[in-house]
Amino acid sequence: MYASMKEMLLHAHKNNYAVMAINCVNMEQAKAIIQSAEEERSAVIINISPRQMKAHGHGDILAPMIRNMAEKVSVPVAFNLDHGTAMEDIVKAMQYGFSSVMIDASGCDFEENVRRTALVASLAHSQGRSCEAELGHVGLASQSDNDKVDLFTNVAQAKEFVEKTGCDCLAVAIGTAHGKYPEGFVPKLDFERLRELKEELKMPLVLHGGSGAGEENIRRVVACGINKINVCTDLFRHATNTAIQVLEKTPSIDYMDLCIEIQNAMKDFIKSYMRVIGSSGRYGFEKPEGQDLD
Ligand code: 13P
Repeated sequence: MYASMKEMLLHAHKNNYAVMAINCVNMEQAKAIIQSAEEERSAVIINISPRQMKAHGHGDILAPMIRNMAEKVSVPVAFNLDHGTAMEDIVKAMQYGFSSVMIDASGCDFEENVRRTALVASLAHSQGRSCEAELGHVGLASQSDNDKVDLFTNVAQAKEFVEKTGCDCLAVAIGTAHGKYPEGFVPKLDFERLRELKEELKMPLVLHGGSGAGEENIRRVVACGINKINVCTDLFRHATNTAIQVLEKTPSIDYMDLCIEIQNAMKDFIKSYMRVIGSSGRYGFEKPEGQDLD
């Protein structure tokens, strides 16, 4: 079913697990994500950023396709604008039919972040969509430094932020970053801060930069209260590596068969990630009559 993030994340919050939010730019990825969710009986969130939409996965094309696929399965599937910074992109995503939007004003000062987030949250809610926001700032993995904690989310500020904005879930900065970390670098995460944030806010919390953080860190953030984990880089890499391996082995492979091989490899990655973060087996599996995704 096509759903907003709100209910699925409240379920994850109440039952102490996390839902994957996976960046997706084409049909093969959308199929891999939705089929994985259905087979694992898990909720899932499909993310796309304004940059990805402009470069390849146009929102006006993806939104109806994802909605169509989501309506054929019994598990909840959300389509969320990832890192909406410009109002124009956020409004367009709503017009295209996204079920959820993220307003990322984490680069602004606190008051401006509150102002922009409150506006987007009320707009989203008036249309039955959910709204994610970010406080503190999750940076780039290539610039990661385990001593750089000045942009981590402040607990007292977070409480005021949520009260003033009405956002449905909050992305917190606790040490992860977007993209690929330098070779051998393992981010040091502030679990104590995360526990305090959960205790204070009692709401769904989001971790950006789910790639390269290490399985032990991922298990621990879920135990400490993260309910949505954004993953892009690792899945894209896995898809590319699969393409390289398949082409090396079978250079004459038909294009469609290559797409199917990549789709299946992405499914293996997604399903095992879902098991690690505890979202597998949380929903029923009654497929609507006569519907099939294959
Ligand atoms: P990664 O590319 O590090 O997985 O981050 C994804 C993300 O946080 C998208 O918002």
